[in-house]
Amino acid sequence: MKTHTLLMPLDMHLHLRDGVMLENVAPLSAYSFSGALVMPNLVPPVTTKEDVIAYKERIMASVPNDYFEPYMTLFYQNYDKAFLESVVDDILAIKLYPAGITTNSEGGVKSFDIEAMRPTLNAMSELDIPLCIHGETDGFVMDREAEFMSIYELLAQNFPKLKIVMEHITTKAAVDMLDKYENLYATITLHHLLITLDDVVGGMMKPHLFCKPIAKRPEDREALLKVALEAHPKVMFGSDSAPHPQHKKESCGCAAGVFTAPIALQVLCEVFDEFNALENLQDFVSDNAQRIYGICPEFKEITLVDLPFTVPESYSGVIPMYAGETIGWSIESVE
Ligand code: DOR
Ligand code: ZN
Repeated sequence: MKTHTLLMPLDMHLHLRDGVMLENVAPLSAYSFSGALVMPNLVPPVTTKEDVIAYKERIMASVPNDYFEPYMTLFYQNYDKAFLESVVDDILAIKLYPAGITTNSEGGVKSFDIEAMRPTLNAMSELDIPLCIHGETDGFVMDREAEFMSIYELLAQNFPKLKIVMEHITTKAAVDMLDKYENLYATITLHHLLITLDDVVGGMMKPHLFCKPIAKRPEDREALLKVALEAHPKVMFGSDSAPHPQHKKESCGCAAGVFTAPIALQVLCEVFDEFNALENLQDFVSDNAQRIYGICPEFKEITLVDLPFTVPESYSGVIPMYAGETIGWSIESVE
């Protein structure tokens, strides 16, 4: 029997929603993770200091007493510097969505007019607030992320002091961009390490694997695996775990999002073990993020073991990845 211990695991891209959904899913992340960067795409989105504080309080009220830190984000708008100064201590990052590109992103950015964005991005650089981006254009669905690379380049060049996180990267093009600009970083999800478009629509359609950005080609998945397994210093784990009720997934007009929060660490252990890279998992799921974001989560130790775990069919009406299937690793203890 093999065990593996992780310290202060962090999920640097997580959707917790609100209301009953929040109450159902937040404890699942709080159980195994020390903290998570919480996405602001609520309806309406999180855009004021009051929104941030109140949402954080609702999250804290939804998790048991165990220690869990919700690192808060604001939904990007062209904010002024005075506002950002007033909110800098309440947030860890600002999340930018192109308008309409994914779930609840209608209020996002309509055009990447650098001059219109310059005052906000300069202020963010000065206040050291990272900019997290859902990097997709409105082009052909398989090309959206690759097409966005020129926008990442424009931003990285124009704002060299701004930390820019390419969220949930899915392509070799994005992996290659990491080493080109000092101020570009990335998160990678669990599902994009495991699936390609074939798994989503190559056979019977799998709505629970449908997400944005859509899973890409085998060579893209391999490029992601390589930098994750070696724990490239600019890459962090961010699950993009996105709960939708079963009827919104198994429907004509399937919502985008894969729900992985309760199984993420177990499956990451399985993948890293399979490639003999378990010694790099700590960097990928925590240490890189601690260094990049300058955060210091409170102590939490989670031990995993290579014993099979049968994934529940549903968590309060949300269908997880691998529902009903048996995965190779389970959680042994959390301290
Ligand atoms: O698949 C996705 N689901 N991608 C996103 O960018 C948003 C997320 C959600 O909020 O459901
Ligand atoms: Zn997301």
